[in-house]
Amino acid sequence: MYIPHESIIFTNDLEEFKANKVLKVYDSFIKDDLKYPYEIEIHLTGNCPSKCKECSYASRHTGDVIGLDKIEDIFSLLSTHTHNVHTIFFSGGGDPFAYPYWKELLELHDKYIPNVNIGVSTSLLILPDIDFNKISYFQIHFSGFNSESYIDQIGFDAFNRFYSNLMRVEKSNVDYVLKLLFNQYVNDNLTKFLDFLVDLNPKNIIFKCEQDFLHNRDVNHSINEEYTFNIIKKHLISKKYKTVLNNLNDDIFKDNTEVDMCHIVKKGLYCLIREDGNVYPCIASTNMKSNSLGNINDNSFDFILKNKGDLTKFDNNMLSELCPLKACRHYRFNKIIEKEYDENNDYNIIHSPDLI
Ligand SMILES: C[S@@+](CC[C@H](N)C(=O)[O-])C[C@H]1O[C@@H](n2cnc3c(N)ncnc32)[C@H](O)[C@@H]1O
Ligand code: SF4
Repeated sequence: MYIPHESIIFTNDLEEFKANKVLKVYDSFIKDDLKYPYEIEIHLTGNCPSKCKECSYASRHTGDVIGLDKIEDIFSLLSTHTHNVHTIFFSGGGDPFAYPYWKELLELHDKYIPNVNIGVSTSLLILPDIDFNKISYFQIHFSGFNSESYIDQIGFDAFNRFYSNLMRVEKSNVDYVLKLLFNQYVNDNLTKFLDFLVDLNPKNIIFKCEQDFLHNRDVNHSINEEYTFNIIKKHLISKKYKTVLNNLNDDIFKDNTEVDMCHIVKKGLYCLIREDGNVYPCIASTNMKSNSLGNINDNSFDFILKNKGDLTKFDNNMLSELCPLKACRHYRFNKIIEKEYDENNDYNIIHSPDLI
């Protein structure tokens, strides 16, 4: 059973996408009664050099930046919880690499929590001069294959900036993932996108259906499966990856029953610190400041986590009105958790290794 994504995934390592990963983490949180989140997402800055048309955060880009002193507070606190905290994921908000203090941030990481993984989601229009090996995974969100496609998708020509930064990442030999939001434009130019990708060496490529998180729960269904898969199957790109996983028609998306609560929020497996210092229990809750558990500019992160109270009511509130939960990966994890480790689902693999 694979983690449901509403995406097409090109990979050589299917293990990475197995739902068991989520279940194991959930299990350990229950058995060991862990107190700190497994993943902490930090939005370092609200600034973004890009203007992706359908950016899920477009209306929420701000000029706020998290102070380096606050990062030090958080990292030093986490140094006593590294058995529990697995990853710090820098995303946005804006773009994490628009944060001006990456060198200092990585020094603090070395000092306090060298064993905690760092993940970064970036459009790569900015790439600081840092040691890329310190970053466990790069999730690189790209929007086009040349100047014209960039202009169409983000409103200006950022292709050369993106491409020269991508070449720096490639040369460093670190693993990276390329992520493309699938929409009508991508569908109409699919072969050109694939031609571009075939000369690159990302570990995985993810074509994620574009979603409108804030206004509805629907994904952009521009993927015409027969047409899209046909092009992919015939393209050289399919020879570069052992597996192309069709993760679009997961049973979980067909199941319309609401989950009673968010298990991820309730157990505190995840939390998010936004660039204005507010701490949230999940990504979807950030659309209302009233969902904030506290602010790191007013109280310590430790205090906020210890005093977050009973989140059950909060979950119910979100489900009834505030939260477009179906757009959230945790909603899908909830479905997996509630199905209790049901391994009998059949998933549709477009093309398998032995076909190469
Ligand atoms: C909002 S971005 C912020 C971090 C960084 N600027 C970037 O673009 O990767 C975080 C992630 O959300 C994804 N994203 C943005 N808008 C989206 C949308 N409308 N539907 C689905 N995913 C979206 C991006 O592909 C990216 O992986
Ligand atoms: S690069 Fe990221 S944050 Fe910036 S506009 Fe695009 S999706 Fe949004």
